[in-house]
Amino acid sequence: MFNHRNFLNCILLAGGMVSFSLQAQNIPDTLTQRLKACTSCHGAQGKATSDGYYPRIAGKPEGYLLHQLKNFRDGKRRYPLMNALLSNMSDDYLKEIAAFFADQHPPYALPQNTDASRVLMARGRELVISGDQQKKLPACMSCHGEKLTGVAPYIPGVLGLPRDYIVAQLGAWQTGSRRAKTPDCMQQVANKLTPVDIAAVSAWLASKTVPDNGIAISVVNIPQFRLPMQCGSVSDMQ
Ligand code: HEC
Ligand code: HEC
Repeated sequence: MFNHRNFLNCILLAGGMVSFSLQAQNIPDTLTQRLKACTSCHGAQGKATSDGYYPRIAGKPEGYLLHQLKNFRDGKRRYPLMNALLSNMSDDYLKEIAAFFADQHPPYALPQNTDASRVLMARGRELVISGDQQKKLPACMSCHGEKLTGVAPYIPGVLGLPRDYIVAQLGAWQTGSRRAKTPDCMQQVANKLTPVDIAAVSAWLASKTVPDNGIAISVVNIPQFRLPMQCGSVSDMQ
């Protein structure tokens, strides 16, 4: 049977040989060529496929991407094929990869149709825009940016992601299989969400058209930017 994991390990272990044979055949050994293993799941330029789960990586803030690549390499996020693929990569190489994908800006796909009820959508909108004072839950917007396209360099946008992916990430924070540097604000946020809240927020976010082609605003352009909670992964932004 075809075994993805062995296949990908082979690609990596053979990294040196591959670049050698590419040169031999006069195919340019560009980063694009070497990142074919990534784009097979994440789509051309990292723009995501129609699979409905693989997240887009194109155009996300570079610092955020680098944190995620290190988190997969170091086991703070789990997805076996990604963990295997990145396990031997150096910080410098991960930096190069993060910079490459942060620079790609292919257009976004249309938002997903939703079968969520109006009540659920209203709850989703409320959590994103206003939060929930009773639960001491800040609005998603207060950190992810007014347009929800993220705040560079470390906070990703939350539009243009598949609903299933958002549900899975919030669940992963609740169970501890996704972690960011402490204090891990997203873990605290996720822990305040009920299953209905997660269904609501993911349906609402996934139904929105992405403005500005999803490009994050740089924190230097938001002089009054203050996070409502401490986030370890963005400590030098606060
Ligand atoms: C076998 C399919 C597959 C391959 C190959 C793959 N990825 Fe992934 N990648 C995924 C999945 C699935 C996730 C989401 C995992 C999760 O649930 O957290 C992910 C997540 C990511 C994330 C985090 C995205 C975010 O918004 O937080 C980054 C960055 C990433 N991959 C980069 C890469 C790079 C770079 C490569 C090549 C070195 C690569 N991936 C190869 C499937 C793949
Ligand atoms: C206090 C600030 C803060 C608040 C409030 C917040 N987030 Fe986040 N969020 C972050 C940070 C920082 C990250 C990046 C974490 C990392 O580096 O892994 C993040 C990451 C995410 C991701 C991962 C995106 C990806 O591509 O994998 C999702 C999904 C997300 N947040 C959803 C939400 C939702 C939904 C809400 C509101 C219910 C919310 N966030 C509220 C700070 C916040």
